[in-house]
Amino acid sequence: MVNDRRLNEDRKLDHIKSITEGGMQASRNWMDEVYLHPDAVPAVDPAGVDATAYLFGRKFDAPFYVAAMTGGHPKTKGINEVLARACAKANIPMGVGSQRAALDNEDLAGTFKVARDASDKLFLIANIGMSQIVKAKEPVITAKKCIDMINADAIAIHFNKLQELVQPEGDRNFTKIMDIIEAIEDGLKIPVIVKEVGMGFSRSDYEILRNYRVAAVDTGGFGGTNFSLVEAVRVDEDSYPYTRNLGKTFQDCGTPTPISVMLAKKYTGLPILATGGIRTGLDVVKALCLGADMAGLAYPFLIAALNDVNVSGGNQSNDACTREMETIKAEIKTAMCLLNAKRVGDLDDSQVHVSADLSRWIE
Ligand SMILES: Cc1cc2nc3c(=O)[nH]c(=O)nc-3n(C[C@H](O)[C@H](O)[C@H](O)COP(=O)(O)O)c2cc1C
Repeated sequence: MVNDRRLNEDRKLDHIKSITEGGMQASRNWMDEVYLHPDAVPAVDPAGVDATAYLFGRKFDAPFYVAAMTGGHPKTKGINEVLARACAKANIPMGVGSQRAALDNEDLAGTFKVARDASDKLFLIANIGMSQIVKAKEPVITAKKCIDMINADAIAIHFNKLQELVQPEGDRNFTKIMDIIEAIEDGLKIPVIVKEVGMGFSRSDYEILRNYRVAAVDTGGFGGTNFSLVEAVRVDEDSYPYTRNLGKTFQDCGTPTPISVMLAKKYTGLPILATGGIRTGLDVVKALCLGADMAGLAYPFLIAALNDVNVSGGNQSNDACTREMETIKAEIKTAMCLLNAKRVGDLDDSQVHVSADLSRWIE
């Protein structure tokens, strides 16, 4: 048990270390293959562009958020602290990383609670993996513990089948997840977001998801941070049982984010959160044109948060996160003005087209 705990905590640090060292992004960022159709004749006053967004009845200053990343190791507390302060200031939502480690070891709860301590008003999304929920003796109570830990406004259950399958110590106990999700939604009366982590949901996934009471889907599409690669570099070559590294074999496996957003729009009536390779405010607007309600960024905010933590020791933000958020807001408003969109509701799929390669996915 103690070894399991250490493994969970250390895995979080391994992930952060390998992702920040570089080389853990998908070989192709598919958001680059979505093209805007800008209008030259000005019909909207730049000063009047309004990027206000709504999710689950809450109002935000812009249609993006910090996607789930961390907490779960003492060294990650500073990261959550600077992210939460910056999100509260920018009035955008924030997801915390998997709370699994804190369920196993209460001493780590503070690495998540620090996000709520930053602000009572911050919209916080709790997070737990599908395998941990399926394995739990009382899944609804487990989800409630995650929510109560940070007084969350919503909970994301992450689906990470590829990651668990290529991870030598992976948790493959996940087949009953959908029925449990309904029980959580019914029992806790809080929005439950079903979230991928970089492989993306497919058309068949959405055809299943639409039959369940799910509050929103987070595409977690292919094209950004690549957890197959992240797991590939973690394997211990000496004790690895196979002749090839599974993480490397499956590194290009996934549904590109723009496709996953389009499929979600076509096959579910659910609110759509787009993550996976969103890198700028321009990407946020592209995702919204394709059908997303909001878009999330993980990797860019990990880099910004580490910058803040390294400079300030985690006690005070040196503003790298805030500056990144302000940049994204400016990019969003610039793209909206180019499209003559006064409000985010004015964005639609006639304002973009996708590359021939992406079109083939849809066909
Ligand atoms: C360091 C790091 C840790 C992550 N940990 C989690 C996690 O605990 N739970 C989760 O649902 N997603 C996690 N993710 C996945 C992100 O929320 C996101 O879906 C994915 O990274 C794609 O976004 P990106 O390309 O902007 O990084 C993590 C991502 C990063 C970069």
